[in-house]
Amino acid sequence: MSSTLQDRTIVVFGGTSGIGLAAARQAMAAGAKVVVVGSHAEGAERVAAENGFAGWRAADVTRPETIAAGLADLRRVDHLVLLAGTFVAGKILEAEVDHLKRAFDERIWAAVHALRALGDRLARDGSVTLVSGALADRPNAHGTAVLAAASAAMEALARGLALELAPVRVNTLSPGTTDTPLLARTLGANRDAYVAALTERLPQRRLGTAEEAGAAVVFLMSNGFMTGETLHVDGGARLV
Ligand SMILES: NC(=O)c1ccc[n+]([C@@H]2O[C@H](COP(=O)([O-])OP(=O)(O)OC[C@H]3O[C@@H](n4cnc5c(N)ncnc54)[C@H](OP(=O)(O)O)[C@@H]3O)[C@@H](O)[C@H]2O)c1
Repeated sequence: MSSTLQDRTIVVFGGTSGIGLAAARQAMAAGAKVVVVGSHAEGAERVAAENGFAGWRAADVTRPETIAAGLADLRRVDHLVLLAGTFVAGKILEAEVDHLKRAFDERIWAAVHALRALGDRLARDGSVTLVSGALADRPNAHGTAVLAAASAAMEALARGLALELAPVRVNTLSPGTTDTPLLARTLGANRDAYVAALTERLPQRRLGTAEEAGAAVVFLMSNGFMTGETLHVDGGARLV
């Protein structure tokens, strides 16, 4: 049995760009009232106006007080989607520890603070969707060990919360490399070379799209029997 998103209130942290924006658009097309959250008011307001979203908030997910303020006036949230995050890279013997901690602050601690801020305003027949990434299964030697750990921890957090918050459903989306603004921001001038080398190895010979990952978020929200799951949308990246 799946539950409809019609007239449901959905809050998407990271809904102003990339995967979150695609998920927000698709949820709205399915009839949901979507509130997007980004780190900057100007950008969030513009994206909400351009897309006709029900609302927008600005909050820095590494600052709990701003998460609480962003959620303060929402009477009830049916589905909470936590996709905000950046590519936190740095080798463990070289990078600043405070920088590496961001990987957990943006993911694990942001989820903890958002859930505590919402409390019982999160609908019991609703859901929470977290995000991990292919690194959780396939780490590499290029300064991503801490991000891989934070991503794997998100999957473990979702499984634990699926029990602790039940009947609220809690799942994780694990995207493979997805063509969003994050890539150019992270890789700069190396983006095209990186993408060319990567796609050569991937079974689908291309990156995922934000729409494909966003559709998986909508599926996790709307399928009433999905909980404690990690849904991989990676074009087979874990197989090669
Ligand atoms: N793209 C990939 O290949 C890929 C693969 C695996 C996992 N992921 C994960 O999937 C999530 C979405 O990625 P994406 O590719 O869609 O990225 P994106 O296009 O860069 O979008 C990131 C979103 O997160 C928001 N955000 C970032 N830092 C924030 C903060 N401190 N507080 C509040 N909001 C913040 C951004 O808002 P502003 O624009 O206002 O800053 C934006 O809405 C990220 O957590 C990323 O790590 C992505």
